[in-house]
Amino acid sequence: SKGNHRHYMLKEIYEQPIVVAQTLRSYLQRMEDRVTLPIPEFDLSTVKRVTIVACGTSYYAGMVAKYWFEQFARVPVDLDVASEFRYRQPVMEEGGLMIVISQSGETADTLAALRHAKAEGQTIAAVVNVPTSSMAREADLLLPTHAGPEIGVASTKAFTCQLAVLAALAANLARAKGKLNAAEEKAIVKHLSEAPAALNGALAYDETIADMAHLIAGARDVLYLGRGTDYPLALEGALKLKEISYIHAEGYAAGEMKHGPIALIDDAVPVIVIAPSGPLFDKTVSNMQEVQARGGKVVLISDYDGVQAAGEGCIATITMPKVHPLIAPLVYAVPVQLLAYHVAVAKGTDVDQPRNLAKSVTVE
Ligand code: M6R
Repeated sequence: SKGNHRHYMLKEIYEQPIVVAQTLRSYLQRMEDRVTLPIPEFDLSTVKRVTIVACGTSYYAGMVAKYWFEQFARVPVDLDVASEFRYRQPVMEEGGLMIVISQSGETADTLAALRHAKAEGQTIAAVVNVPTSSMAREADLLLPTHAGPEIGVASTKAFTCQLAVLAALAANLARAKGKLNAAEEKAIVKHLSEAPAALNGALAYDETIADMAHLIAGARDVLYLGRGTDYPLALEGALKLKEISYIHAEGYAAGEMKHGPIALIDDAVPVIVIAPSGPLFDKTVSNMQEVQARGGKVVLISDYDGVQAAGEGCIATITMPKVHPLIAPLVYAVPVQLLAYHVAVAKGTDVDQPRNLAKSVTVE
């Protein structure tokens, strides 16, 4: 049931602190400061290359994971949307690990990609939320998310749980590759353990975000910008908004703006900038200022330091708790989801059952 919430989507957004904690319980050994996987027999040190395949929001979780796997484990990662992977004749080397990511475990394109890669001798790991699904059954290694049933067509809690599992997988891969010492592993356990409280902190801005929904609800087009792991979040923000509010939205890597999209900027196109303070902050802010210099109306999502440093001149700011960069993609998913939700509510669309969409896409 929806409990006290008006929509399943809102209920599922609010469940994130609990379901992420529930998911992490299977991956963190907090007493020993270890990050483990529920598949202890598999030797990750033999993995030479990773291929990640998924669709929609699950694909964006995969995109965050690509940054992590390469950064922490120094293992090369290919990333594809499932419908492209199957037909482009991808090169799959021996000793390759394919990771499929899916809430339902039934998405037709992702399942077909899994079967194709399996036939090519890849080891298949599946990050899935439905443990009885086809992907869960057909994979060699099952990495479950414990988000519980997700009813809203717009994926929310499945995404943050996928990120939690993928962060744990990145840490395991890094350790197996000799790229993670005990102190670094301990730090990762600490950061991941802080995610549920930080998600709660992010949810505290629900009302603030509801109050600014009118700034977006009248727009015809909206842009989302981010850098590093905030780039996939920009894409996810745009997908969420278009799915449930029917407003045209696009996510861009902040640095790509000046290569074309900046031509779209005027005062009718709100630009949502996702930029936690940290090593990439100044770069993103300079892209943001290029937008403002052209009359663009910016909503900045950052933490206290970031909002202090760059919030002036924005039409609105959303202040997230200050978090370690590793868990920022989980935490910043919340304002992005809430913004889409409140804009859709303001427009009066069917949030849980948007037009033309199905929860599980079981046709090609
Ligand atoms: O069940 P899956 O994770 O495989 O589904 C993939 C996409 O169909 C799904 O994420 C879709 O994009 C959502 N409606 C996004 O909110």
